[in-house]
Amino acid sequence: MINYDSQNKIFYLNAKNTTYAIGLTDSGLVAHLYWGKRVNFVPKADPNRFGGHSYSAFDYGDYCSNTVPQEYPAFGNADFRIPAVRVSSKLGHHVKLQYKDYEIVDGKPKIPGLPATYVEESAEAQTLKLYLSDDVQQIEVVLYYTVFENFDAIARHTEIKNLGEAMELNGAMSACVDFYGLPESRLITLDGNWANERVVTDRKIVSGNQNVESRCGVSSAYHNPFMAVCDEKATETAGNVYGFSLVYSGDFTAGVELDSYRSARAYIGINPFEFTCRLETGDVFATPEAVLVYSAEGFGAMSRTYHDLYRTRLCRGKYRDTERFALINNWEATYFDFNEEKIVAIAEKAATIGVDTMVLDDGWFGKRLSDNAGLGDWVENPDRLPNGLKGLAEKVNACGMRFGLWFEPEMVNPDSDLHRAHPDWIIHTENRNRSLMRNQSTLDLSRKDVCDYIIDAVSSVLRKANIQYVKWDMNRYMTEVGSALLPAERAGEVKHRYMLGLYRVLETITTQFPDVLFESCASGGSRFDPGMLHYMPQTWTSDDSDAEERLKIQYGTSMVYPYSSMGAHVSACPNHQIGRTTSFEMRCNVALPGQFGFAPDLNRCTEKALEIAQEKIKQYRALGPVFHSGDCYRLKSPFETDWSVVQFVSKDQKTAVVCVNSAKATCNAPDEFVALRGLKHDATYCIDGTPFDSEYLMNTGIHLRNGRENQSFIMVLELV
Ligand code: GLA
Repeated sequence: MINYDSQNKIFYLNAKNTTYAIGLTDSGLVAHLYWGKRVNFVPKADPNRFGGHSYSAFDYGDYCSNTVPQEYPAFGNADFRIPAVRVSSKLGHHVKLQYKDYEIVDGKPKIPGLPATYVEESAEAQTLKLYLSDDVQQIEVVLYYTVFENFDAIARHTEIKNLGEAMELNGAMSACVDFYGLPESRLITLDGNWANERVVTDRKIVSGNQNVESRCGVSSAYHNPFMAVCDEKATETAGNVYGFSLVYSGDFTAGVELDSYRSARAYIGINPFEFTCRLETGDVFATPEAVLVYSAEGFGAMSRTYHDLYRTRLCRGKYRDTERFALINNWEATYFDFNEEKIVAIAEKAATIGVDTMVLDDGWFGKRLSDNAGLGDWVENPDRLPNGLKGLAEKVNACGMRFGLWFEPEMVNPDSDLHRAHPDWIIHTENRNRSLMRNQSTLDLSRKDVCDYIIDAVSSVLRKANIQYVKWDMNRYMTEVGSALLPAERAGEVKHRYMLGLYRVLETITTQFPDVLFESCASGGSRFDPGMLHYMPQTWTSDDSDAEERLKIQYGTSMVYPYSSMGAHVSACPNHQIGRTTSFEMRCNVALPGQFGFAPDLNRCTEKALEIAQEKIKQYRALGPVFHSGDCYRLKSPFETDWSVVQFVSKDQKTAVVCVNSAKATCNAPDEFVALRGLKHDATYCIDGTPFDSEYLMNTGIHLRNGRENQSFIMVLELV
């Protein structure tokens, strides 16, 4: 997987169909030579090739770092582009990195305290460690590159060690890739807002810096920690695509800076905007991991690599590979207006149609009668739950169902016993307003005592009753960021320390309760990121559960994340977020490929709807393995057409499922076909008993009937 050509000083990192090549100059600069389709060799670093002119400063021997494509550029030399690392100390703020040594190890080292992809056996991957240092600034930088044997993916992160006196780290990217002579290209990002997450944004890369970032303390709904650089004409099925995904749940930046030589510096990492980290002598800072995926065959292949890697080598635990739950959640059925009797009635009805898990959402604890009070007091409300969680869980279990519970452990309402006892346990800055968002403050998870409290509080509830599923919510961004335990000059550490605290909490709780299925949520999908997926294999995709809107949200999400990670429920009707009426069948069909569930009180649904629901649960059980571990092909985009057509093919190609949805009604519309993908060549597939040639299906395709509103169907193909 990794070879070093010592004569030409080139490291070759060969993933499945990909080569990534790194060159060393005689002057100790680590140059980026190539990333793309697998090749046998590439030209070595050469001053003639990497330009410079009479006005250049040749800061690395024959090379001017301003024109050399690099692996980890630093600031303070001749390179005026956005740097990967910045520090400040008594010695100034310049860094000049020199290559020192390398090491190639089997497998993949862990990143202490941070989520990351992993291997189960060391033969699955190799890791290159490049040692760089600056003897003046007295730092050592180690660049890690893990190459996976079976994926076109390279995982990178960086460690920075302070060998001198105390200093401050002002920014450290997880990965930086300099594209040299970038052809006309586009930048794809996933952007949005609450209830409108991961809209695909597609823009031309132009001169200057273009980036997306989060400054609100969590990865956020505004931008996802992902970007792809792609050919001008790249499509779902063709063209070079270079994906960058950050395994982190806090502030991030991801962008591309294009200069006049058409060198494009792509970078991803913790957002340096409100970040500093003081490093004492000997301290090491580890960046989060960036996962770089190359596809020579457009966006679809990039997504499938992310899907496979993330569902098998990022997600963990008992539920990684097993069938998950078909649940009902009471939030939209009752909001805060419930008691034990109502919940049991919902469970009893749901059990009759095959739902297997009853999830009790917000409002079961403290004085939580509305979103004004109670967060932080994780003790049952005896008026609502006279028999406690234990009694309720027993009743739900008696219906033959599992019992699940909602928490929002990172938050506190000012009107709560927890806040009254510990007003300083929240993120705040002395002498500043403590702005509330949804009437709540963020607990300061940069503090060990607060994290320990959360671990205790959640664990003791989970021990109290037979709770087999947890929805872990988080419903606000961070403002006036500071911590009572950190001096003002360390305020720039709070957000990252928060993430380290959160990850420790999640690691501890999920390890203590391996049989519980955890789903993360943040006002819907405001923290749908690879960091959270490492601890919880699924995320509530969006608070917008309108079927038509979900088609877009799920489509955008699938650019990086597998359908197995998307919580998707049949919504109430008219939909609570936008008031639209959609057929029950379409609502089911849209949710089916995700982690399926129901929001409406089924006691209020018609018999016809219940019949459909029962059928759909059966279909979900039958097709779940294809949706959740097969290959996903996006055939028609709801961003570009009136359709959303997504196809799933089992890894053995024996079963394929096509999910067709359109909410557009056109009378007497023209005929339309959609060609399928990923079927076995030269084979026959049966659709409803009728045989079809696979080549016909992949050329002409299937007929999209049109002309009716809420056009929605699921087509199953079986290999004959
Ligand atoms: C957030 C979640 C919802 C629901 C409410 C409860 O908005 O995204 O699904 O759990 O909180 O307050």
